[in-house]
Amino acid sequence: MATMESLIVTVNRIQRACTVLGDHGGDTSLPTLWEALPSVVVVGGQSSGKSSVLESIVGRDFLPRGSGIVTRRPLVLQLHKTERGLHEYGEFLHLPKKKFTDFSMVRKEIQDETDRMTGKSKQISPVPIHLTIYSPNVVNLTLIDLPGLTKVAVEGQPESIVQDIESMVRSYVEKPNCIILAITPANQDIATSDAMKLSREVDPTGARTFGVLTKLDLMDKGTNAIDVLEGRAYPLQHPWAGIVNRSQADIKKNVDMIASRRKEREFFASSPDYGHLASKMGSEYLAKVLSKHLESVIRARLPGITSLINKSIEELEAELSHLGRSVAVDAGAQLYTILELSRAFDRIFKEHLDGGRPGGDR
Ligand code: GDP
Ligand code: NA
Ligand code: MG
Repeated sequence: MATMESLIVTVNRIQRACTVLGDHGGDTSLPTLWEALPSVVVVGGQSSGKSSVLESIVGRDFLPRGSGIVTRRPLVLQLHKTERGLHEYGEFLHLPKKKFTDFSMVRKEIQDETDRMTGKSKQISPVPIHLTIYSPNVVNLTLIDLPGLTKVAVEGQPESIVQDIESMVRSYVEKPNCIILAITPANQDIATSDAMKLSREVDPTGARTFGVLTKLDLMDKGTNAIDVLEGRAYPLQHPWAGIVNRSQADIKKNVDMIASRRKEREFFASSPDYGHLASKMGSEYLAKVLSKHLESVIRARLPGITSLINKSIEELEAELSHLGRSVAVDAGAQLYTILELSRAFDRIFKEHLDGGRPGGDR
């Protein structure tokens, strides 16, 4: 019987194929299709811990992080769960034939590819880098890492950068299919959080916002974030997540992901303030909550996605029938891939309906 998982995998593949196709989608409904598919976006101030949270969710070290503006292009990260026992690897859209098994090389390639577009400056570019990670240890999710919101330009940056970053972030979070991970460091005043300000603006009811508090380990002694984490101070429809990522010192000491997750678990379990919340805190729990939420969003949107897919099947068939004249060969191959995937989605969806009883899918 078809599972929700195979539907999400197919959705991810269509998303990827649409991206490869880029502008060659012609007059088809493909761009709308891409936008109908949900993804998770991290939003927050510079150095609030966005890249660290993403790494923790994936359970791998592979993102450039640190103080100042490190993330300077959007990174569209697709996590693709593979069968148990298979090797983990990453693959970039701009290097389709290369499998990265060494994750420090993934980080280097993100840095190099950022520099290729922006020069070794502190400039930003809205052109995304696409990375897929295949691993038995991930949940199926599309995550997007973005440059941090900032209040002032630093040396080497144009004055417009503050506004440019905000517009870039806004273009992602204002889409109704976007699930927002709003990241606020617990050692700063949450009332002035860039993440909360922007997410409230684009999602006033908090229906698609997940509040995340990082740096709980760095709060002043004698203070805690219980009021926030228990949902009283800043109520959202989803529960808040508390996180302890690696510090810069941990990164320098090469503390690995397994050790840092253990440290995070111990922090919550042994904390007099947060002990009673321990089972609902930390990055592993957050990853599970997000994956579950994404599943329910896709489930709710299935009828819409399916009708869009059926529409594009027709359009693609029409487009392919007069191929050779108007469309480049590569684009033709991509259109064909999307057509195949769309048919696969349609088939899996129907099996899913047949196999599923009303109200349940297994
Ligand atoms: P980004 O700019 O929002 O992507 O933030 P990064 O993930 O690059 O993190 C910025 C800095 O804050 C890095 O030096 C991290 O090690 C540090 N950091 C992030 N989260 C935490 C945390 O929960 N605790 C501590 N102690 N440091 C953190
Ligand atoms: Na940073
Ligand atoms: Mg970052």
